Amino acid sequence: MCGIVGYIGSQQAYPILIEGLKRLEYRGYDSAGVALQNGKIHVYKKRGKVVELENFVGDAGVNATVGMGHTRWATHGEPSDLNSHPHSSRSGKFALIHNGIIENYAVLKEKLSRHGYTFESATDTEVLVQLIDFFSNEGAHNAEEAVRLALHEVVGAYGIVVMASDEPDQLIVARKGSPIVLGIGEGEYIVASDAAPIIAYTKDVIYLEEEGMAILRKDGYEIKTIGNIPRTPLLERIEMELETIEKGGYDYFMLKEIMEQPRSIAESIRGRVNKDNGVVWLGGLVDVQDRLRNARRVIFVACGTSWHAGLVAEYLFEDFARIPVEVEYASEFRYRNPIIYPDDVVIAISQSGETADTLAAIQLAKEAGALVMGVVNVVGSSIARGTEAGVYIHAGPEIGVASTKAFTSQVTVLTLMAVYIAQLRGTATPEMRSAMKELLNVPALVEKILESNDYIHSIAEEFRDATNFLYLGRGLNFPVALEGALKLKEISYIHAEGYPAAEMKHGPIALIDANMPVMFIATKDESYDKIVSNLQEVVTRGGRVIAVVSEGDTNIRDLAEFVIEVPQTNPLLTPLLTVIPQQLLSYHIAMMRGCDVDQPRNLAKSVTVE
Ligand code: F6R
Repeated sequence: MCGIVGYIGSQQAYPILIEGLKRLEYRGYDSAGVALQNGKIHVYKKRGKVVELENFVGDAGVNATVGMGHTRWATHGEPSDLNSHPHSSRSGKFALIHNGIIENYAVLKEKLSRHGYTFESATDTEVLVQLIDFFSNEGAHNAEEAVRLALHEVVGAYGIVVMASDEPDQLIVARKGSPIVLGIGEGEYIVASDAAPIIAYTKDVIYLEEEGMAILRKDGYEIKTIGNIPRTPLLERIEMELETIEKGGYDYFMLKEIMEQPRSIAESIRGRVNKDNGVVWLGGLVDVQDRLRNARRVIFVACGTSWHAGLVAEYLFEDFARIPVEVEYASEFRYRNPIIYPDDVVIAISQSGETADTLAAIQLAKEAGALVMGVVNVVGSSIARGTEAGVYIHAGPEIGVASTKAFTSQVTVLTLMAVYIAQLRGTATPEMRSAMKELLNVPALVEKILESNDYIHSIAEEFRDATNFLYLGRGLNFPVALEGALKLKEISYIHAEGYPAAEMKHGPIALIDANMPVMFIATKDESYDKIVSNLQEVVTRGGRVIAVVSEGDTNIRDLAEFVIEVPQTNPLLTPLLTVIPQQLLSYHIAMMRGCDVDQPRNLAKSVTVE
């Protein structure tokens, strides 16, 4: 949440910052701003998207080779020009951009008010920049020391970049709880919330460590802790290509990412399944084999779509590895004083690897001595670095705010993990091995479902004006129903709910009438007959039924108004197929309603605040 970017070098900073902000915009798009340094700090900021800022700056043309920019997801203070970052201190000496939350900002604000400070915005961030100014006036030797003294008083999370007008050739960077990546180029440095703005300039990066600080100057850089202890930087090379973060001919990232799934699922499987015997190999789990073999229980912690992937995994882990599983909302788990045993395995599922609640949940699990693992997409992210073992999903950058390809890759990797742990615990069966061989064919099956795109578009025409939607599924398709409902509400703003189909009779059936579209996910599996009965109950009450069914199902074709077929496969793999029509339907309905599918209102891609 919130994207920050800074540049120092020999090139003009402004175009680099604007391009960087566009690449970071998926992290927040309530407002944007830049600060440029040329003997004086010039700040431009505007409510709205980066393009509004660009229009506002026009050809003001500040000649500067040092600068920083911010794209905001509002927490404290409504989206407005005034509340936008960068924030400046009252003396004009300091400017600051911030991702995170200063939790004790009210106390600090009161203290500063007593010293005559006034505030023009409603943000927590302005308090921090004024606090830096305060310590500068109190005799700090330089800007860096003022920043350090201020950070010692701060409770909360931050990734910050600070500029000081009288120390023009430097950027001061610090982080606690919010990610910061430093791009190390030839005589130039780019700092950002993630690697996206960096890779056009350099692939050499340093992931700033927790409570770390960096001083970037034109002629070099220093890495230290906030406590001023020098650290030896660990330079890493990132393997991300520019085209993976571009739209590649599509109008929207979301559609690109939906269409990319045959490839992203294949990447998640690559090198992990022996195609001859179906044996699974996960290099990231080798060092913890004994602990997995002897584990008492698995607890998944995740949020949103990743939590839905955890629900799918619950079925698979219990079925394959015969190990008890709990699936927890990270935000609930961390505040509940949960019972965690040292022989538990806690698995964080996260696309971004930065979700604040998920990070806090794994911290809790670590303190309790559990084995903490990650199923993460973003390489080098905080969760990836903060877990003892794990498996990357390798879906490639996901930029559309609504998660699509990350879900299918998470489910793919979790399926592999379930079989891998079954192998370790001696519960693997020939059926599982044959399911793994079928998994290798899933990318081709997904490709086939994507061919229904035009037909799904025509279904979307029918339901574009709906105000409610119900999604029903059983077994492994229940989490898909939840995911379908989430996708629809978050990008089209239609109220939608997902339920286990059998629960319908316990309440939601009261909602059924001719205005209630009901999406049934009713592929051929052991609960097929039961879900057909549920479907009939809806039809009898006049509900409009769309059904996702197994190819060749003529039974439901006679009952439902619209039927979307998915190819037959092993029932344990069906979520990977049945979710695709949900994504496409939501996408088309949202487009028809004129919604911004890539940047839906109020949302942001990585939720780094609690
Ligand atoms: C929904 C969506 C969110 C995320 C959730 C967790 O489309 O994207 O619900 O799934 O915010 O994010 P990660 O997986 O990055 O931890």
